[in-house]
Amino acid sequence: MVASFALTDPHLQPILDRLHKSSEAQNPGVIAFFVLRLILEKLGLSSWLSAEDFQSITRDKYIALERDKSQFCYLLLRAISAKTVIEVGSSFGVSTIYLAAGVRDNGHDYRNDAAATEKEPTKIAKAKENWEEAKLTKWIKLLEGDVLETLHDVHLDDPIDLVLMDIWTPMALPCLKNLIPKMKKGMCVI
Ligand SMILES: C[S@@+](CC[C@H](N)C(=O)[O-])C[C@H]1O[C@@H](n2cnc3c(N)ncnc32)[C@H](O)[C@@H]1O
Repeated sequence: MVASFALTDPHLQPILDRLHKSSEAQNPGVIAFFVLRLILEKLGLSSWLSAEDFQSITRDKYIALERDKSQFCYLLLRAISAKTVIEVGSSFGVSTIYLAAGVRDNGHDYRNDAAATEKEPTKIAKAKENWEEAKLTKWIKLLEGDVLETLHDVHLDDPIDLVLMDIWTPMALPCLKNLIPKMKKGMCVI
């Protein structure tokens, strides 16, 4: 018999199936948009796409980690017995479900464990519904607003065991620098 260490919670499976399906349905449009943006950048025409264009196109997009990447996060989190986990960029909260379930399955049971971060109010509202349905709100502390401010101000009871960095690329390094003083030695950044 082969034991499965992946997330297989029967309550979560239909919820995750639905959310991954919704995210995957948006993928062709999202990929086309990011390819176009890259081409404009290479041609020195970045100004053709304003920050507002970017905002309005990505505002309702999941851009969620695929199942295998999400399961990898869950497995890693279980393998290192992670307790304090920070997700930088949570969107509709799909990957957050894997992280919070991992913290729960590691046997930790209070709110400061898995911190999610998001600034888009419509995504936040939907993420909260998803976490409620997943019965995982107890394991998720949501930092609402610009991640550079919310991460700077956050108080964590324990040093960070794992960071999932899933935000627009230019934000990654400043966020990482912000988190370094709060990290446990030997922790993981994905
Ligand atoms: C790739 S998506 C995250 C997907 C999510 N991790 C998942 O797998 O379901 C990146 C998210 O980062 C959010 N974001 C971008 N800049 C931000 C900022 N400065 N502060 C907080 N959130 C931000 C975006 O609104 C977007 O929802």
